[in-house]
Amino acid sequence: MKKAFIILTISSSLMMASYTQEDRIKDMQIMAGAMQDIQNGFFYNNFDMIKAGGILLTDTIVKIEPPLEEREETDVMTRFLNNKVKMTNSTKNKIKKKTQTMIERFRDGDPTQALQNFTKITKECMRCHTQLRKW
Ligand code: HEC
Repeated sequence: MKKAFIILTISSSLMMASYTQEDRIKDMQIMAGAMQDIQNGFFYNNFDMIKAGGILLTDTIVKIEPPLEEREETDVMTRFLNNKVKMTNSTKNKIKKKTQTMIERFRDGDPTQALQNFTKITKECMRCHTQLRKW
């Protein structure tokens, strides 16, 4: 049990160590693409597009971590600013939950409610980006 825990800890910190700013930018772009697919799903009234986009979005958001560059940052002020836009588990969970609900609502024939969930997801993205732009 203890051994397994140690191995898990080591492997997860190794994974974190290799996550770079470039990876994060790529993941952000994948999420932007997924959001576009979902939006098209609404326009074309296509459940498969919404579902596929939603799965891609949730699969990607869970991967986002503070990149290596930020974890090695020594300047106090920059660290403080970076922390403000750190992807927290609560943000990840919120986006995951809202995406799940959106897919279910659309599947159950309530596109209006599903669209409201889509808007809420967009707000989660923008809340963080607005903080970024204040820098
Ligand atoms: C917790 C904060 C946070 C959330 C939430 C967030 N982002 Fe980002 N986003 C960032 C940061 C930080 C950057 C800047 C990445 C960099 O340049 O290192 C960024 C950059 C981007 C970019 C620009 C990438 C480029 O090519 O420069 C896109 C597109 C993007 N995000 C899409 C999204 C989408 C879509 C969502 C919601 C599903 C989202 N983001 C949610 C923090 C966030």
